[in-house]
Amino acid sequence: MYLGNFLGSKGRWVLSALLICAFIFELAYCQKDTQEKRNTPGRKPKPIKPKLGKSTKKESRAVTAKPKIKATAAAQTVLTQVLNRGKFKKVGETISVQTGDTMELRCRGKPVQWGVPRYLEDDDDGRLRIVQHQRYGVLTLVNTTGADTGEYTCFPMYCEDTDCRKEYNKAVKVFVFFPDPQELFVPSSDYYKAIHLRTNWPTLLPCQVTSPEAKVTLHREFPPMEVAVDGTEISFNVKRGFTIHRPRPHHAGPLFCVASLGNLRQSSTTYMLIYVNYPMAPPAPVIQASSNSLVVGENLRVSCSVVGEQDVVVEFTWEYPGQEIGRPLYTQESVTPTGGGAARQQSQSVLLVDEVRDVDQGAYTCTAMNLQGAKAVSTSVKVVKAKPRKP
Ligand SMILES: *[C@@H]1O[C@H](CO)[C@@H](O)[C@H](O)[C@H]1NC(C)=O
Repeated sequence: MYLGNFLGSKGRWVLSALLICAFIFELAYCQKDTQEKRNTPGRKPKPIKPKLGKSTKKESRAVTAKPKIKATAAAQTVLTQVLNRGKFKKVGETISVQTGDTMELRCRGKPVQWGVPRYLEDDDDGRLRIVQHQRYGVLTLVNTTGADTGEYTCFPMYCEDTDCRKEYNKAVKVFVFFPDPQELFVPSSDYYKAIHLRTNWPTLLPCQVTSPEAKVTLHREFPPMEVAVDGTEISFNVKRGFTIHRPRPHHAGPLFCVASLGNLRQSSTTYMLIYVNYPMAPPAPVIQASSNSLVVGENLRVSCSVVGEQDVVVEFTWEYPGQEIGRPLYTQESVTPTGGGAARQQSQSVLLVDEVRDVDQGAYTCTAMNLQGAKAVSTSVKVVKAKPRKP
């Protein structure tokens, strides 16, 4: 087999797996399995199962009920790499292309749209070319460098007359490494980057390498030390960088990545991690007036309170009837810890109106805001004339 020879022995194994796949299931499901096996050649191949993640319920039923018919329909998106002398290779999750070489990807669909790394989208220096043929689209990138490393996506388009939209569920992605012998990290325009660490929100340190073979470690600047990467609290993905899954205040500070390959060792941009107490949800304020019906001359007190996580700042703003005529009201704000085991606090704003007048009648609205959002609550207050004193 010509193609088999070309791919080599590992490739031949992959190819036969692909062929079996193509007969039984949609290729899109199998490709991932095949790629996984190629990455771990020592592992015993597990039985090929269809991956149903990207399909709709209807499709998955079709796969199990009539697999052979579905396979011949071949409606799935197929992304191939065009190698020199017109040979094609179906791409897996990742491919490596030598820097300086031309990368050519071909994707079946009429038409297709392409997604490229952000930097290529922004600086069009004429190296990227996209051509749509009758049945497929071609993306060509010439004079490649390590900076081109990233995700390339083909989106088949669904068109009705001239109105086209991307079919996101049929998109095919490939992560392309351009191993650069001089640059182990994908160059970044910043030497220094501030990243907010939010409580319980995964944070990414995007130190991306140009070669999948590079060994990457995480380091703290002060005091200088390597940060343990256990795969749970902090994990590494060669396509994305390091992720801190549940940030805590102790993760804050300057961090950087170090990549080594052969006798080359390089440091990434420094990431300044700033810890922010980030609430889980927008505040849920409760408003209460000292009385909803007052006699002219009485004092009014409207309180707005929020119970939330400790050290999360809540800002209050008020709207009230006397606002338009510039009635000078004043507010008192306070934060008090609430009882109980959980670290919670009550934030409160109290609006005070001395000696109410007719103009103070109406709706009092308090808006409470934290980093997650804002919520407004209202209460209405009636002002009545003083009753004539009875003799
Ligand atoms: C690619 O590099 C060659 C050789 O340096 C140069 O002549 C050519 O203009 C470059 N092509 C593009 C599109 O930048």
